[in-house]
Amino acid sequence: MHIIAHRGASAYAPENTFAAFEKARELGAGFIELDVQLTKDGKLAVIHDDKVDRTTNGTGFVRHFTMKELETLDAGSWFSPSFQGEKIPDLEAVLHKYHNKIGLLIEIKSSKTQPGIEKAIGRLIDRLGPSANTIVQSFDAGAIMTLHNLYPSIPGAVLIRPRFGMLPYGRLRHISSFARYVSLKHTMLSSFLIKSAHSHDMKVFAWTVNGRKTGRRLQSWNIDGIITDYPDYFKKEGKA
Ligand code: G3P
Ligand code: CA
Repeated sequence: MHIIAHRGASAYAPENTFAAFEKARELGAGFIELDVQLTKDGKLAVIHDDKVDRTTNGTGFVRHFTMKELETLDAGSWFSPSFQGEKIPDLEAVLHKYHNKIGLLIEIKSSKTQPGIEKAIGRLIDRLGPSANTIVQSFDAGAIMTLHNLYPSIPGAVLIRPRFGMLPYGRLRHISSFARYVSLKHTMLSSFLIKSAHSHDMKVFAWTVNGRKTGRRLQSWNIDGIITDYPDYFKKEGKA
Protein backbone atom coordinates (compact mmCIF):
# COMPACT_ATOMS: atom_id res chain seq x y z
CA MET A 1 0.00 0.00 0.00
CA HIS A 2 1.36 3.42 -0.95
CA ILE A 3 1.39 6.23 1.58
CA ILE A 4 0.66 9.43 -0.34
CA ALA A 5 1.38 12.70 1.43
CA HIS A 6 -1.53 15.07 0.73
CA ARG A 7 -0.14 18.41 -0.56
CA GLY A 8 3.08 17.07 1.02
CA ALA A 9 3.07 16.31 4.75
CA SER A 10 0.59 19.16 5.10
CA ALA A 11 -0.18 18.56 8.77
CA TYR A 12 3.40 19.53 9.59
CA ALA A 13 4.46 22.09 7.00
CA PRO A 14 2.74 24.55 4.63
CA GLU A 15 0.88 22.62 1.91
CA ASN A 16 2.34 22.40 -1.59
CA THR A 17 5.80 23.71 -0.65
CA PHE A 18 9.22 22.06 -0.75
CA ALA A 19 9.17 22.10 3.07
CA ALA A 20 6.05 19.88 3.03
CA PHE A 21 7.52 17.64 0.31
CA GLU A 22 10.80 17.12 2.20
CA LYS A 23 8.84 16.40 5.40
CA ALA A 24 6.86 13.77 3.48
CA ARG A 25 10.09 12.07 2.44
CA GLU A 26 11.45 12.22 5.98
CA LEU A 27 8.26 10.59 7.31
CA GLY A 28 8.51 7.71 4.84
CA ALA A 29 5.81 8.61 2.30
CA GLY A 30 6.14 6.84 -1.05
CA PHE A 31 4.27 9.54 -2.97
CA ILE A 32 3.70 13.28 -2.77
CA GLU A 33 0.29 14.58 -3.86
CA LEU A 34 0.28 18.16 -5.17
CA ASP A 35 -2.00 20.56 -7.05
CA VAL A 36 -1.19 22.66 -10.09
CA GLN A 37 -2.51 25.83 -11.71
CA LEU A 38 -1.43 27.50 -14.97
CA THR A 39 0.27 30.89 -14.67
CA LYS A 40 -0.02 33.93 -16.94
CA ASP A 41 3.16 32.88 -18.76
CA GLY A 42 2.11 29.25 -19.27
CA LYS A 43 4.11 27.74 -16.38
CA LEU A 44 2.69 25.33 -13.84
CA ALA A 45 2.52 26.66 -10.30
CA VAL A 46 2.12 24.19 -7.44
CA ILE A 47 -0.79 25.63 -5.48
CA HIS A 48 -4.22 24.30 -4.54
CA ASP A 49 -6.51 27.32 -4.87
CA ASP A 50 -7.06 29.36 -8.03
CA LYS A 51 -6.22 32.44 -5.91
CA VAL A 52 -3.07 33.06 -3.88
CA ASP A 53 -4.92 34.66 -0.96
CA ARG A 54 -5.28 31.73 1.47
CA THR A 55 -1.74 30.38 1.37
CA THR A 56 0.45 33.41 0.61
CA ASN A 57 0.87 37.07 1.50
CA GLY A 58 -0.45 38.08 -1.94
CA THR A 59 -3.91 38.55 -3.42
CA GLY A 60 -5.47 37.66 -6.75
CA PHE A 61 -5.80 34.85 -9.23
CA VAL A 62 -2.80 32.61 -9.94
CA ARG A 63 -3.46 32.97 -13.68
CA HIS A 64 -2.87 36.75 -13.43
CA PHE A 65 0.73 36.23 -12.17
CA THR A 66 3.84 35.07 -14.02
CA MET A 67 5.80 32.27 -12.33
CA LYS A 68 8.56 34.75 -11.43
CA GLU A 69 6.01 37.04 -9.73
CA LEU A 70 4.52 34.10 -7.82
CA GLU A 71 7.98 33.17 -6.59
CA THR A 72 8.26 36.51 -4.78
CA LEU A 73 5.33 35.62 -2.50
CA ASP A 74 5.68 34.11 0.95
CA ALA A 75 3.88 30.76 0.98
CA GLY A 76 4.98 29.70 4.47
CA SER A 77 4.11 32.36 7.07
CA TRP A 78 0.35 31.70 6.98
CA PHE A 79 1.15 28.24 8.41
CA SER A 80 3.79 29.27 10.94
CA PRO A 81 6.42 32.04 11.21
CA SER A 82 9.08 29.32 11.19
CA PHE A 83 8.24 28.68 7.52
CA GLN A 84 8.58 32.30 6.45
CA GLY A 85 10.12 32.52 2.98
CA GLU A 86 8.77 29.23 1.60
CA LYS A 87 7.85 29.76 -2.02
CA ILE A 88 5.21 28.53 -4.43
CA PRO A 89 7.09 25.80 -6.33
CA ASP A 90 7.30 25.58 -10.10
CA LEU A 91 6.18 22.07 -11.20
CA GLU A 92 9.21 21.86 -13.46
CA ALA A 93 11.53 22.23 -10.44
CA VAL A 94 9.49 19.68 -8.48
CA LEU A 95 9.77 17.17 -11.31
CA HIS A 96 13.50 17.75 -11.64
CA LYS A 97 13.97 17.10 -7.93
CA TYR A 98 11.61 14.15 -7.39
CA HIS A 99 10.72 12.41 -10.67
CA ASN A 100 11.85 8.76 -10.37
CA LYS A 101 13.00 9.39 -6.78
CA ILE A 102 9.62 9.48 -5.02
CA GLY A 103 6.14 8.98 -6.47
CA LEU A 104 4.29 12.11 -7.60
CA LEU A 105 0.51 12.42 -7.82
CA ILE A 106 -0.11 15.65 -9.71
CA GLU A 107 -3.65 17.05 -9.60
CA ILE A 108 -5.17 19.19 -12.34
CA LYS A 109 -7.54 21.44 -10.42
CA SER A 110 -9.35 23.09 -13.29
CA SER A 111 -9.00 22.21 -16.92
CA LYS A 112 -12.09 24.22 -17.94
CA THR A 113 -10.68 27.59 -16.86
CA GLN A 114 -7.14 26.60 -17.90
CA PRO A 115 -7.31 25.18 -21.41
CA GLY A 116 -4.11 23.42 -22.42
CA ILE A 117 -3.07 22.44 -18.89
CA GLU A 118 -3.09 18.72 -19.78
CA LYS A 119 -0.65 19.32 -22.64
CA ALA A 120 1.58 21.54 -20.49
CA ILE A 121 1.86 18.88 -17.76
CA GLY A 122 2.22 16.02 -20.24
CA ARG A 123 5.01 17.80 -22.11
CA LEU A 124 7.01 18.33 -18.91
CA ILE A 125 6.69 14.70 -17.80
CA ASP A 126 7.33 13.38 -21.29
CA ARG A 127 10.56 15.37 -21.50
CA LEU A 128 11.89 13.56 -18.40
CA GLY A 129 10.58 10.18 -19.57
CA PRO A 130 7.28 8.89 -18.14
CA SER A 131 7.45 6.84 -14.94
CA ALA A 132 4.89 4.45 -13.46
CA ASN A 133 5.15 6.55 -10.29
CA THR A 134 4.44 9.96 -11.78
CA ILE A 135 0.65 10.00 -12.04
CA VAL A 136 -1.74 12.77 -13.07
CA GLN A 137 -5.16 12.94 -11.43
CA SER A 138 -8.27 15.10 -11.70
CA PHE A 139 -11.94 15.25 -10.70
CA ASP A 140 -12.42 16.16 -14.35
CA ALA A 141 -12.37 12.77 -16.11
CA GLY A 142 -12.29 14.62 -19.46
CA ALA A 143 -8.91 16.14 -18.54
CA ILE A 144 -7.47 12.68 -17.83
CA MET A 145 -8.91 11.37 -21.10
CA THR A 146 -7.33 14.31 -22.97
CA LEU A 147 -3.97 13.62 -21.31
CA HIS A 148 -4.25 9.92 -22.15
CA ASN A 149 -4.93 10.72 -25.81
CA LEU A 150 -1.91 13.06 -25.94
CA TYR A 151 0.48 11.01 -23.78
CA PRO A 152 -0.80 7.43 -23.38
CA SER A 153 2.22 6.31 -21.36
CA ILE A 154 1.54 8.79 -18.53
CA PRO A 155 -0.64 7.05 -15.93
CA GLY A 156 -3.86 8.83 -15.04
CA ALA A 157 -6.24 8.75 -12.09
CA VAL A 158 -9.86 9.89 -11.94
CA LEU A 159 -10.92 11.44 -8.64
CA ILE A 160 -14.44 10.70 -7.49
CA ARG A 161 -16.37 12.63 -4.83
CA PRO A 162 -19.64 11.55 -3.21
CA ARG A 163 -21.74 14.19 -4.96
CA PHE A 164 -20.91 12.49 -8.29
CA GLY A 165 -23.19 9.66 -6.97
CA MET A 166 -22.31 5.99 -6.77
CA LEU A 167 -19.66 4.47 -9.00
CA PRO A 168 -21.55 1.98 -11.18
CA TYR A 169 -19.87 -0.89 -12.99
CA GLY A 170 -20.33 0.73 -16.43
CA ARG A 171 -18.68 3.97 -15.30
CA LEU A 172 -15.75 2.04 -13.83
CA ARG A 173 -15.34 0.17 -17.11
CA HIS A 174 -15.41 3.45 -19.05
CA ILE A 175 -12.80 5.05 -16.77
CA SER A 176 -10.57 1.98 -17.11
CA SER A 177 -10.31 2.67 -20.86
CA PHE A 178 -8.15 5.77 -20.22
CA ALA A 179 -7.05 5.74 -16.54
CA ARG A 180 -5.12 3.26 -14.44
CA TYR A 181 -6.41 4.54 -11.08
CA VAL A 182 -9.58 5.70 -9.41
CA SER A 183 -9.19 7.87 -6.37
CA LEU A 184 -12.23 8.02 -4.10
CA LYS A 185 -13.24 9.81 -0.92
CA HIS A 186 -12.66 7.14 1.73
CA THR A 187 -16.29 7.25 2.92
CA MET A 188 -17.42 5.92 -0.49
CA LEU A 189 -15.24 2.82 -0.39
CA SER A 190 -16.17 -0.79 0.29
CA SER A 191 -14.35 -4.05 -0.12
CA PHE A 192 -16.71 -4.80 -3.04
CA LEU A 193 -15.87 -1.56 -4.87
CA ILE A 194 -12.14 -2.13 -4.50
CA LYS A 195 -12.53 -5.68 -5.83
CA SER A 196 -14.57 -4.37 -8.80
CA ALA A 197 -11.87 -1.83 -9.67
CA HIS A 198 -9.18 -4.50 -9.39
CA SER A 199 -11.19 -6.76 -11.69
CA HIS A 200 -10.99 -3.91 -14.25
CA ASP A 201 -7.22 -3.83 -13.80
CA MET A 202 -7.41 -0.51 -12.00
CA LYS A 203 -5.79 0.50 -8.74
CA VAL A 204 -7.63 2.40 -6.02
CA PHE A 205 -6.54 5.32 -3.88
CA ALA A 206 -8.52 6.76 -0.94
CA TRP A 207 -8.54 10.42 0.14
CA THR A 208 -8.07 12.02 2.61
CA VAL A 209 -7.42 9.48 5.35
CA ASN A 210 -6.28 11.03 8.61
CA GLY A 211 -7.46 8.31 11.01
CA ARG A 212 -5.40 5.22 11.75
CA LYS A 213 -8.47 3.02 12.21
CA THR A 214 -9.84 3.99 8.78
CA GLY A 215 -6.42 3.35 7.27
CA ARG A 216 -6.30 -0.14 8.78
CA ARG A 217 -9.80 -0.95 7.48
CA LEU A 218 -8.91 0.19 3.96
CA GLN A 219 -5.69 -1.79 4.07
CA SER A 220 -7.63 -4.94 5.04
CA TRP A 221 -9.71 -4.34 1.89
CA ASN A 222 -6.52 -4.23 -0.25
CA ILE A 223 -6.55 -0.52 -1.03
CA ASP A 224 -3.56 0.42 -3.21
CA GLY A 225 -2.83 3.80 -1.63
CA ILE A 226 -4.04 6.24 0.97
CA ILE A 227 -3.71 9.99 0.64
CA THR A 228 -3.08 11.56 4.04
CA ASP A 229 -1.92 14.75 5.76
CA TYR A 230 -0.12 12.48 8.31
CA PRO A 231 2.15 10.06 6.43
CA ASP A 232 3.73 9.01 9.75
CA TYR A 233 0.42 7.51 10.93
CA PHE A 234 0.73 4.64 8.51
CA LYS A 235 3.24 1.91 7.75
CA LYS A 236 6.05 2.75 5.37
CA GLU A 237 6.22 1.61 1.76
CA GLY A 238 6.79 -2.09 1.34
CA LYS A 239 5.83 -2.87 4.92
CA ALA A 240 2.24 -3.94 4.22
O1 G3P B 1 -5.99 13.71 -3.77
C1 G3P B 1 -7.25 13.95 -3.34
C2 G3P B 1 -7.46 15.32 -2.82
O2 G3P B 1 -6.28 16.04 -2.92
C3 G3P B 1 -8.55 16.03 -3.52
O3 G3P B 1 -8.97 17.15 -2.84
O4 G3P B 1 -9.16 19.55 -2.48
O5 G3P B 1 -7.35 18.30 -1.36
O6 G3P B 1 -7.26 18.71 -3.79
P1 G3P B 1 -8.12 18.48 -2.62
CA1 CA C 1 -5.25 17.66 -4.33
